[in-house]
Amino acid sequence: MDAAFIERVKRNVEYQRERKAPPEGFPSFPPIPGERYTASAFLALEDAYLWKRSWLYACHTDELPETGSWILWKKTGSPILIVRGKDGEVRAFYNTCRHRGGPLVKEASGTARGFVCGYHGWTYDLEGKLVNLRDRRDFVDLDLECHGLAEVRCERLGNWVFVNEDPKAEPLLEHLGPIPGQLAQFDLDTIRHVHSKSYDVACNVKVLLDAFLEVYHLKSIHKDTVDRFLDHRGTEIVLWPKGHSLMITPNRREGWVDPGTVGMPEFPSVTELPIRYNLSYNLYPNLVTPVAPSGMPFLVFWPNGVNAMRIECHWFAPDWGDGGPGPLWKTRIDNFERILYEDTQFAPQIQESVESPGFRGITLNYQERRIYHWHEELDRRIGGKRMPDALRVEPRLGEFVEHA
Ligand code: FES
Ligand SMILES: [Fe+2]
Repeated sequence: MDAAFIERVKRNVEYQRERKAPPEGFPSFPPIPGERYTASAFLALEDAYLWKRSWLYACHTDELPETGSWILWKKTGSPILIVRGKDGEVRAFYNTCRHRGGPLVKEASGTARGFVCGYHGWTYDLEGKLVNLRDRRDFVDLDLECHGLAEVRCERLGNWVFVNEDPKAEPLLEHLGPIPGQLAQFDLDTIRHVHSKSYDVACNVKVLLDAFLEVYHLKSIHKDTVDRFLDHRGTEIVLWPKGHSLMITPNRREGWVDPGTVGMPEFPSVTELPIRYNLSYNLYPNLVTPVAPSGMPFLVFWPNGVNAMRIECHWFAPDWGDGGPGPLWKTRIDNFERILYEDTQFAPQIQESVESPGFRGITLNYQERRIYHWHEELDRRIGGKRMPDALRVEPRLGEFVEHA
């Protein structure tokens, strides 16, 4: 993270604290149509043009500890097998036999020397190559070379593994723009996985994603927790191309340190920004990470139909060497879970509201502009021609997006 960016953030936080209105010329937002949270036709568009074509967080390399370690990952609806090969590389394939679609694996995770289809026994190696099949004499002109498992794009940001079902997607690191450079201070090649847990919530995935893109709600739903130490009125926001964004919220008191993290080892190369402020990144579309000097959670949001979703919470920490991540993590994770419950408490009722005739659209303000930015990107992904007029979000933020 470069010094100019750090200085600019410090200046802008002071500006945000003092301002009496949004900056001169900042637009008003048309309401975001409620049907975007309720219509199954809209869900189908999101499925085809967002979830099936985005770089999505899948796992940490600690979850694939040895040659042949694999995970069956179905978050986009497709069965995807993520596996560590003999060369140590992590690859992803459809869990779909090239004979007649039998599954190679059926459990959630495991370790294998290769994969044998349960249906008629076609055998693949860890790199997805078809290496053996029963009664080969009965196949006329079968080219084994052309019948390897279908590969899914799989790339890494340090130890974090992402997949993308779009074979033509731009490389992950290019897609993430300035984010990998900013996150480099967290030693991504040695960062470790501490813990994962998921939570089902009865609302559209965007009801909760929206909540994690703003801090306007701190004084209400986090009044006894986050609001006691963060000053939402000083929040600075950076909007980047492709829907990504960063929110920087200052601590109320200079020098304040989260008591829950005292005594935890920190990343040695961390800059002053995550020490002085709460930084929360959105890696578009569904990954939110509030980073801290001693580690961070990945909050990953997944749709499960129109009115149901799942949040995954994955924790990461500086490399602890041998042994475990240390006894302080349990309290840290429990404390965070309490905040997560505060965030989710109204979600089912909000979904009921959005589905009722009383809902006239979402009215956003200046400090909620990341939400509008997120929706603008969704419309770009779906494409103007496919988007029904009544569900469209008119672009407003173009000139406020930073091109590196
Ligand atoms: S479907 Fe896999 S061997 Fe027949
Ligand atoms: Fe919150």
